Amino acid sequence: MEICHTAAELSERLAAYRKVAFVPTMGNLHRGHLSLMQIARERADGVVASIFVNRLQFGPNEDFDRYPRTIEQDRAGLEAEGVNVLFAPDEQEMYPTPQVYRVQPPPLATELEGAFRPGFFDGVCTVVLKLFNLVQPDIAVFGKKDRQQLKIVRGMAQQFNMPIQIVAAETVRADDGLALSSRNGYLTADERREAPRLYRTLRWIADGIAAGRTDYANLEVAGRAELARHGWNVDYIAVRHGLGLRIPHPEGFDHPNLLIVLGAAKLGATRLIDNVDVVPKHNED
Ligand code: PAF
Repeated sequence: MEICHTAAELSERLAAYRKVAFVPTMGNLHRGHLSLMQIARERADGVVASIFVNRLQFGPNEDFDRYPRTIEQDRAGLEAEGVNVLFAPDEQEMYPTPQVYRVQPPPLATELEGAFRPGFFDGVCTVVLKLFNLVQPDIAVFGKKDRQQLKIVRGMAQQFNMPIQIVAAETVRADDGLALSSRNGYLTADERREAPRLYRTLRWIADGIAAGRTDYANLEVAGRAELARHGWNVDYIAVRHGLGLRIPHPEGFDHPNLLIVLGAAKLGATRLIDNVDVVPKHNED
């Protein structure tokens, strides 16, 4: 695996490949990230991963400084997955001058994650646009765990006519259901035992919908209450349309083909997010 720290080195290396699949990351890689690399590997002769902790997507009270930087360990994992090129620029390379031009994402970016992390998606879209311009991939792989990010990046690629296929990868979970995330490393042992409740709660709501319930608001309230009862500080529990993450009709009259149940909540100091898909019952009749 070649490691490039500058755009010039990267461009030189990329010339060797016919088709490039790209996986952008912020490092501290776990099995979830590595599964994205496998998907990339199956689809192209050149697999490029990036590691860059993007200051622009962190709010003033978020964990930019304490975000784990584990480059040596990450490097070994990427090598084992057959990644061809690791692009690991420093801040000066990515933002040599203050980044005053920004991508303005759509209104969806102010909902769900965006409502609790103002400016998050403009930071994500801006860095992803820059990385796409540097790597010029044919394919880019994003995980479904960050579902809203996936939708917004895919929309950006479409609306800006980027010739890049955005591939969605399934969430990888621990045996107890907890979605793998770099932030799981912040959990204490007690919190780690409690953490799968977020997934179980989303699953419970999804199972209700699959069984025919359409009172989404009641399900959301019950989900919040369940988590709060166990010491979570809930940001949102939301049932949304699979396409575009729109709010569904409150009684199911718009007959969605797919709904997504999303949640974000803090356990102690650690904020976790997750989501699950559900096909509503009426679609099976
Ligand atoms: O999902 C992430 O790790 C980041 O948001 C991304 C896409 C690498 C942009 O910094």
